[in-house]
Amino acid sequence: MQFFVDTAEIDQIKELNDLGMVDGVTTNPSLIMKSGRDILEVTKEICAIIDGPVSAEVVALEADDMLAEGRKLAKIADNIAVKVPLTWAGLKTCKTLTDDGIMVNVTLCFSANQALLAAKAGATFISPFIGRLDDINMDGLDLIEDIRTIYDNYGFETNILAASIRSANHMSECAKIGADVATAPPNVIKAMANHVLTDKGLDAFMADAKKAGIKIV
Ligand code: E4P
Repeated sequence: MQFFVDTAEIDQIKELNDLGMVDGVTTNPSLIMKSGRDILEVTKEICAIIDGPVSAEVVALEADDMLAEGRKLAKIADNIAVKVPLTWAGLKTCKTLTDDGIMVNVTLCFSANQALLAAKAGATFISPFIGRLDDINMDGLDLIEDIRTIYDNYGFETNILAASIRSANHMSECAKIGADVATAPPNVIKAMANHVLTDKGLDAFMADAKKAGIKIV
């Protein structure tokens, strides 16, 4: 499973990228707002750091305007994936940009039918939002599983990009289901290293190392 980092914070992207943990980046208007940066500038900077796909989201609602924005975003770098919402206008934009050879990430997916439409429109990525489904007492992971089944049934090449990930548990569950990519905030990727028994075991080893006077360098 590829790891995308869900942030527009340059320092955090660099830190994880140096450890080989970043295969791509996703942003959205809320993350751009949080960064306090200009979308074109910060996206260009991210694209220069990361070799893999960098998703940048359109903010128009009509297909013609989305297309103009998508084409402008795509000019930033070769590794841009234009992010469009899962609406008819978004699907139409997806089809046109895909036909032009531009990567498209169809976002705000909350149902298997929506994912089916995105695949038919040739999306490079479909982004089902796990956490936001969990928030309304639905099971976001069930959606990932359903989309995996449907895409495999028909050999759709659209990559399942599990999004709105809120916990380390979401990451391992997505990997078990077979999501192609999971995009998570930096703190969730870091939390994957945590285990209470690792902490406990390390405390015991450190105490014994001190008692034994072990010195290595
Ligand atoms: C990424 O592509 C999505 O925009 C992001 O994962 C949404 O996450 P949220 O539901 O935590 O805002």
